[in-house]
Amino acid sequence: MTKYPNQTIKLLHERASCRSFLDKKIPADVMRYILEAGIRAATGGNLQPYSIIKIVKQATKKRIAKLAGQGFIADAPVNLIFCIDWHRLERWAKLETAPFTAKSAFRHFWISFQDTMITAQNICTAADAMGLGSVYIGTVMEFFPTLKRMLKLPKGVMPVVLLCLGYPKTKLVPRKKLSVDVMVHKEKYQDLTDKKLIDAFNKKYTGMKIEVTPERLKTIERVCQDVAGEKFAKKCLDKIKKQGYISWAQRYFGLHYVANEMPKKNERFLKVIEQFGFNWFKKFQPVKNK
Ligand SMILES: Cc1cc2nc3c(=O)[nH]c(=O)nc-3n(C[C@H](O)[C@H](O)[C@H](O)COP(=O)(O)O)c2cc1C
Repeated sequence: MTKYPNQTIKLLHERASCRSFLDKKIPADVMRYILEAGIRAATGGNLQPYSIIKIVKQATKKRIAKLAGQGFIADAPVNLIFCIDWHRLERWAKLETAPFTAKSAFRHFWISFQDTMITAQNICTAADAMGLGSVYIGTVMEFFPTLKRMLKLPKGVMPVVLLCLGYPKTKLVPRKKLSVDVMVHKEKYQDLTDKKLIDAFNKKYTGMKIEVTPERLKTIERVCQDVAGEKFAKKCLDKIKKQGYISWAQRYFGLHYVANEMPKKNERFLKVIEQFGFNWFKKFQPVKNK
């Protein structure tokens, strides 16, 4: 059994995402401790440019679960939607007669994105400490405009991620990670040799081979052709046939986060960001030049 210096370190070392929840409500006092831990997180300039939408209504959770294509979302007693929120600060600036351009500045967007995730992660850790489990749902980004309408988000409030919270049905098993030696570089970036790099990933995904099926082969071939041409597609297929399985890199970028589809979404996401009231990709025009 691993010995830990304290409970916090044990908690962090043994954490894992939870996708199976007991049908058990989270008591109000437990929820309060967790949320209080969240809003105490570090935030650029102590501005707190985020909001958290707490959803407990079954109908709403069900709708989100359906939109996300992940049924367990509805089983979690609480869904938290973490949003960047410049609306509250804009109103504050207005009431205080202060100049405000935060929604037009990428810098503010970038920092507020970090603030939002840091708060979310504080909440995850606090939830773990209270015996709960959680899982982030990033796929909400595929239906941001629907969420905007459902949650009545004003301009300047944009969802980032959803977090399912609840009591775990079964004991959580931590997943393998790349080691600290791989992830942490001493003083400067130190690239691994090809052998060390492949060994590190093989260790992470050891015993987890993905079966070759005709459909998977066809998809990977098509994706490879689109991204890097016929020659590369043949090379990839030959490699799969020779090794007798689909590797995790091939699965991630050939089947799951499909390499030829991902960049096609950029334009749509930029439009969505603009719909939410952010326009930092447009040139800022001072009033006197307009
Ligand atoms: C930003 C983000 C988005 C995620 N989105 C999803 C998701 O949509 N569905 C899901 O089941 N898990 C999601 N996860 C959880 C990851 O799959 C999980 O963290 C990863 O597989 C590592 O497992 P672990 O958290 O148990 O260590 C997400 C995690 C993060 C940080």
